[in-house]
Amino acid sequence: METKVYKPKQFNLSGLNGISDKTLEMHFKLYEGYVTNTNLLTERIQAILADGKVDQEEMPAYSELTRRLGFEYNGMVLHEYYFANMKKQGGGEAPRGSQFRSAVERSFPTFEIWKTDFTSVAKMRGVGWSICYLDPATGHVSNHWIELHQTGNVAGFVPLIVMDVWEHAFLLDYKPADRPKYIDAFMSNMNWDAVEKRIAAHAAVEARV
Ligand SMILES: [Fe+2]
Repeated sequence: METKVYKPKQFNLSGLNGISDKTLEMHFKLYEGYVTNTNLLTERIQAILADGKVDQEEMPAYSELTRRLGFEYNGMVLHEYYFANMKKQGGGEAPRGSQFRSAVERSFPTFEIWKTDFTSVAKMRGVGWSICYLDPATGHVSNHWIELHQTGNVAGFVPLIVMDVWEHAFLLDYKPADRPKYIDAFMSNMNWDAVEKRIAAHAAVEARV
């Protein structure tokens, strides 16, 4: 057996529209904290398991470490999706004829209504994420509010667009009440190629089944 150790990924996002390099540098550091903590939790749980049992006195610590796995793991993974679905000179509408656009048009009356839903989820009060998921069983997409990092994710659904709306994502650039300005900035940096790769990669897997 070998212990899985995650390494922080690198993202070249300098020069985004409306999201400063200073914000991104701070945000990369936060992301690296989730990678570190995911590794640390895994290591500590393995240490408890090393003697082949979880003793009664180990149970409280074991339980808390295990509960935190969902928070740290999702914190790591969602930030990777988030950074990777932005790019310099991105934005605009999802290309007509793309798999993503077709999935949206199957699932919502219009692309604009999908966008209204996705950006309105992002405006919900609270600490979390707006995520557009693909339901692999039906090929439909739906937008979800994820509280913190882990509450509300739908098992088996594929994240296609991930928007961080924790205040740390924009506080250096906008006031808390100006979250809509950050949401506009996020949309203006959208990496539609990355979104298309996510849905296409999944479609390829489905085709092989
Ligand atoms: Fe974040």
